[in-house]
Amino acid sequence: MKTGKRILAMLLSAVLAGWGLSGCSALHTEKRIVRIAIGQSETHPEYLGLLEFKEYVEERLGDKFQIEIFPNELLGSTQKAIELTQTGAVDFTVAGTANLETFTKVYEIFSMPYLFDSVEAYVEVMEDTDYMKRIYESTEEAGFQVVTWYYAGTRNFYAKKPINKPEDLKGLKIRVQQSPASISMTKAFGAAATPMSFGEVYTAIQQGVIDGAENNELALTNNKHGEVAKYYSYTRHQMVPDMLIANQRFLDGLSAEERAIFDEAARRSTQVEREEWDKQVDEARETAEKKMKVQFQEVDMELFKKKVSGIHSEMLENNESIREFYQHIQKINQKIAGEHAEQGGQGL
Ligand code: GCU
Repeated sequence: MKTGKRILAMLLSAVLAGWGLSGCSALHTEKRIVRIAIGQSETHPEYLGLLEFKEYVEERLGDKFQIEIFPNELLGSTQKAIELTQTGAVDFTVAGTANLETFTKVYEIFSMPYLFDSVEAYVEVMEDTDYMKRIYESTEEAGFQVVTWYYAGTRNFYAKKPINKPEDLKGLKIRVQQSPASISMTKAFGAAATPMSFGEVYTAIQQGVIDGAENNELALTNNKHGEVAKYYSYTRHQMVPDMLIANQRFLDGLSAEERAIFDEAARRSTQVEREEWDKQVDEARETAEKKMKVQFQEVDMELFKKKVSGIHSEMLENNESIREFYQHIQKINQKIAGEHAEQGGQGL
């Protein structure tokens, strides 16, 4: 974090510590300030989804709640924001599942490479709220639970050098999310995995601390990684959702009517986010290509898949908590593949 940002974060933390923990905080008002932390910027689809969340809640419960959104890792890295959500200093945080793996091992499943065979299968799994609820509630003891998910595209490798085949990753220092499963995946691809928080990636590539990273296309534009890494290869190795997590005590303190409004607001934020995503991803690619001169490369995905083919059974062997969920996903993969075959279409 740059110095200015760090000072701001410290000031904000002081403010949160002083006013926030009691729950009712704005200086001359009785309204409960509801704080949401998000690492992304104000133009990102997730931020726009959160604006819908804010509007929906405030229109119905505006006399009681005021929603404040803190973008750009203003309250610290996502890991830090999760800790603040555990204690209740922050009420909601948007976090990738990699950041949740340390709280419950079931989230490791999303780091499994080539888990979903198609975007349709991925979305169908995530939209099955009854099934997902069990997983969402699994962090209750840690003081928070997931209230909804956000689509975060497909992850691909990008670097200062072209990556056309798995051998090109050999020896490259690639930033990965701070999760054991992502580290083993990247190692299996043959790269040197360098875990670090998302906010540090730009400078690390710029200064040559790492050679590249892996993420969706918006990282090139919204987070400006396209300025420092010019080769983006469609390895399509992961579809990792972001989760909106909420402090458990905050949720438990809501009346049934209030909870229903917050739940509906969360659901709507997911819809808006997805619509925005579909709009923004093509624009991001165009901007990256034309303005930033990033070269996009299709690769033979089967070669990359082969490199990590042992990881599924290895992870299933070591992590009992993902087995049932894995079977559930395979069923949906097969169902969608069947539908594609009928329509003469294809997967990813
Ligand atoms: C994506 C995702 C973020 C995550 C980031 C990362 O951008 O939306 O939530 O933090 O990847 O790679 O760390």
